[in-house]
Formats: sequence, structure tokens, C-alpha cells
Amino acid sequence: MKESITLTDNRTGASVDIPIIDGTVDSGEWTNLLPGVYFHDPSFGTTSGAASAICELDGEAGYLRYRGHPIEQLAEQANFLEVAHLLLFGELPTRPQLDAFADEIAESASIHENFHKRILEGFRDDAHAMGVLASSVAALSTFYPEGKDVGDPAVRRTQMIRLIAKMPTLAASAYRRLVGTPYVQPDPDLDYTTNFLTMMFRPVEGGYEVDPVLSRALDLLFLLHADHSQNCSTTTARTVGSSHADPYVSVSAACCALYGPRHGGANEAVLRMLEEIVSYDQVDDFVARVKAGERRLMGFGHRVYKNYDPRAQILKDTAHRVFEVTGKNPLLDVALKLEEVALADDYFVSRKLYPNVDFYSGLIYQSMGFPVDMFTVLFAIGRVPGWLAHWDEMLTQNSRIARPRQLYTGEATRDVVPIDQR
Ligand code: CMC
Repeated sequence: MKESITLTDNRTGASVDIPIIDGTVDSGEWTNLLPGVYFHDPSFGTTSGAASAICELDGEAGYLRYRGHPIEQLAEQANFLEVAHLLLFGELPTRPQLDAFADEIAESASIHENFHKRILEGFRDDAHAMGVLASSVAALSTFYPEGKDVGDPAVRRTQMIRLIAKMPTLAASAYRRLVGTPYVQPDPDLDYTTNFLTMMFRPVEGGYEVDPVLSRALDLLFLLHADHSQNCSTTTARTVGSSHADPYVSVSAACCALYGPRHGGANEAVLRMLEEIVSYDQVDDFVARVKAGERRLMGFGHRVYKNYDPRAQILKDTAHRVFEVTGKNPLLDVALKLEEVALADDYFVSRKLYPNVDFYSGLIYQSMGFPVDMFTVLFAIGRVPGWLAHWDEMLTQNSRIARPRQLYTGEATRDVVPIDQR
């Protein structure tokens, strides 16, 4: 069997053979044969926008690998910072490498006093934490103008460390501002996730101990969210970064893309949906409304996965471990019943709609004490190493600025009518 396609331009009879390599065909050959003819693919469903060695997922088989390592093995044997190292630098760290990396991150975790006073304090009292986070990340650009030197690998590395380090501090500050309690400075003696939980929940009077089961569970959640190839927010980070904008505004743009309920905002939307369904016996009614097109089953479906999302399976198991400490989330029964009904229903089966990573994560976050407004912020903390790894990879590839074509559907040329005659 020949691994190629043949394209023929029937207007001219010219034809070209394009090899199929790793399931893709190069657009250069298309352009040579058909200048001025573009592939119309508005949601990029059939377009590969990047060559990347970071993350591989197969939606039919239902697997996810970071730099070749299966997500299940990473979930079992690594922590979030090890995975961040893997994504950014290509390999899991040795023990000394991990210690040095964790130290570097801990040293960069604090944020400037002016940040609290002048920027965070400027938001409305009820500002959504995700809006605060996206704006705060963009504001970092003004504190670190040297980040604009995106052609220098050493400068890029420093900004990447800063961003991973400061995300929990910004996130916890956004929460503290929301609930009106004083900010807590990062503690370099604590590990990444324990430090975040402490900045979030330590009372003013002190005396706060993080339960190691909860710290490990949240760390695992960060790890599971760390990358997912060319999703909407990663593509946004790459697109903005392709103009050679600095990493802070590129990551801020990615936060904005993540915020939407079709993407990272789904974890918040799932919880609100479960709260609306309230009880086990309302599930059938709700599913009927989804099938009638009145509602969407949030936390279900995925552009790429046409099988059970492997992250959802790991999260389902994690939820039980967390509930042993926190007590069972009363909405768990509604979620389990919803999953059971959907997976037995032809509407969902025929469309290959399965639970995704956002279906169970919100239940865990809520049981750990996070308000719903913080859920997507937690997703963002986890995803930052992935965004940065793709941004950095793109800049090492001599990439061109992202600039898709469009199919123009507007008016043909027409004269302007003077304002009094319109
Ligand atoms: N509930 C009900 N029907 C659905 C759902 C859903 N959650 N998702 C897809 N469908 C239907 C859709 O209506 C369409 O039906 P039909 O063929 O009759 O028109 C069919 O399934 C194919 O769906 P699609 O809209 O073409 O799928 P897409 O690839 O464009 O959208 C999605 C993917 C994730 C945006 C969508 O499944 C969705 O809105 N899910 C709910 C939101 C969600 O959970 N998002 C988190 C995604 S995973 C984490 C992340 O990436 O952030």
C-alpha cells in the first residue's frame, strides 16, 4: 500500500503525490499545486498546527502520554514538579535535579508588595477569581520586562520558572481577596502544593496543618492537568507567542481561553449542573433535556477522546481517597448516576460521549474547601508547565507567526454612500 495521496487540480490537470507521514500530509505541497486555494477548517478539527514532542494522546484508544510516559505511571510514581520538569526539559529529573528545580521555584514564588496593593486591590469585591488570575498574569509582564527577550533561551527559562512559581501565589491571593482575609506569603520550606494549600487556607492566627492525603490529591490533579497537546488554551498560548509577545501575556491569553465552559471552565459548570440537578431522582429528567438539545451534559464529550478520558478514571479513584478524609461529597451520588445513565443511553453511546477530566475534579475541589469560582484557577495552575513547554518548543522551531486564511463571505466591492443619503 502506498502511503500517499494524489491531488489533481481539475482546472489544469496538474497533479501531485503527497506522502502521508505519521497521519499527516504537508501543506507545502498543497500550496505549490494550488496557490490561493485554502483548506477551510474553522475549528482546526483536521489541521495540525504544530510539530511537537511533548504530549501524545490517542482519542480512539484513550491513552495520554507526556514525553512518552503513560499518564497512569506518572500519576503513580511522580509528582507535579517532576512532571513540570519532564514537560519543560524533556526528561524526568534525578533526585538532585528535582531538589534544585524545586528550590528555584520556591525562591521565585513571592510577588511584589505593589502587586497586592495596586493591582489585586483594584478589582471589584465580587470579581471572578479567573478574571483576576488572567489579569494578574498579564500584569507580571510589566514587572519583568526582560521577558520580552524571547530569543534568549536563558531568559525564557527564568520566566518559565517564575510563572510556575508565582501561579499558586497569584491564585491564593485572588482567593484571599475574594474572601477578604490577609494574604499569606509563600513558605519556601514547604513543597509546591502544600505551600499553595497553606497560602489558601491558613487562618490569620496560624496553626494550619495540611493533610498529606489532600496535598497529594491536589498535586495529582495538577499533574493530570499539566498538558494535553494542542487544546484551545495551548493553541492560544502558541498563537500569541508566535508574535513574539512575552510569556506572561501569552500565558494570560491561555488563561482567558481556558476560562470558557467548553474548556477549563467546564469543572465549574459541572458543579453548578450537579447542584441544579440536586438529587438522584432528577437525573433522568435532566438527561432527557440534554437529549432534547435544551442542555449540555457538562464534563462529558471531547474533541479528541472518543473513549473514556484516562484522566477521568484516575480522578474517580482519587475522589474516593479524598472523601475518606473530607467525608463524601453529597453530589457524588448524582454524578455517578448521571454517568451510569449516560453511558447506557444511545444518544451518548452513538456520539462517543464519555466523562472527561472535568466531570469529577470539581467534586474533589469542593470537598477540599475550594469555592466553585476557584476551580478553573486550579486547572490553570496545573496547565502552566504545558503552556510554557509548547511556547518554548515553538520558539526553538523557528516558527512563523500564526496567521490563518479566511473564507470571505461578505459583500462584493461597493461604493460608500454619503452619510446624508444612507
Ligand atoms: N452534552 C450533550 N451533547 C453533546 C455534548 C455534551 N457534553 N458534547 C457533544 N455533544 C453532542 C453534540 O451536540 C453533537 O451532536 P450532533 O452530532 O447531534 O450535533 C455531537 O455530540 C458532537 O459534538 P461536537 O459539539 O461536534 O463536539 P466538539 O468536539 O465540537 O466539542 C466539547 C467538544 C468538549 C466542547 C463538547 O463535548 C462539550 O461542550 N462538552 C461539555 C463541556 C466540557 O465538558 N468541556 C471540557 C472538555 S475536557 C477538558 C478541557 O479540554 O478543558
